[in-house]
Amino acid sequence: MIVPAAQHVHTLLASYPDFPLPGILFRDLNPVFADALAFRAIIDELTERYRGQFDAVAGIEARGFLLAAGIGYAAGCAVLAVRKGGKLPGTVLAEEYDLEYGSARLELEVGQLPAGSRVLIVDDVLATGGTVAATARLIERAGYTMVGVGVVLELADLDGRSRIGDTPVHTIISL
Ligand code: PRP
Repeated sequence: MIVPAAQHVHTLLASYPDFPLPGILFRDLNPVFADALAFRAIIDELTERYRGQFDAVAGIEARGFLLAAGIGYAAGCAVLAVRKGGKLPGTVLAEEYDLEYGSARLELEVGQLPAGSRVLIVDDVLATGGTVAATARLIERAGYTMVGVGVVLELADLDGRSRIGDTPVHTIISL
């Protein structure tokens, strides 16, 4: 049986005003990942939501890696690491994107999966959607198909979904 994770995650979520910059309310999910029951409930919920629909799960650096590892194990599928700029060797695809604060670059190594592989993208937070949108561009440019997005926390006011198009987005909690 899958236990919905939302209530437990809500209880564990910590908030820090003015971090890392004045005016930013930082939502800290580390206490959620540090709770064994919450972590398992999140992995189970995201895996079951998309079960049978994906061949690989792509985790976005940094906390998306934690989710991708768990889902990849639970689903028995491939795991891709979408990394911040400058950390991957060989031939990489790169996408620049804007953050809620600042800008950044994400990269993906080419040729890791068969063309047309169905990829689920996972991350801890969906805020403005810039990070997931950049990852979606990397997945498509690599020759794969993005079939869904899974995140733990959606900051609904920032309307990140509007940058993701028609792809299904599953969030554990939305604030
Ligand atoms: C945070 C978070 C998401 C992203 C969401 O990561 O982990 O990846 O912001 O923001 P967006 O929807 O507005 O793009 P951050 O870039 O701060 O890096 P981190 O994972 O290293 O903390």
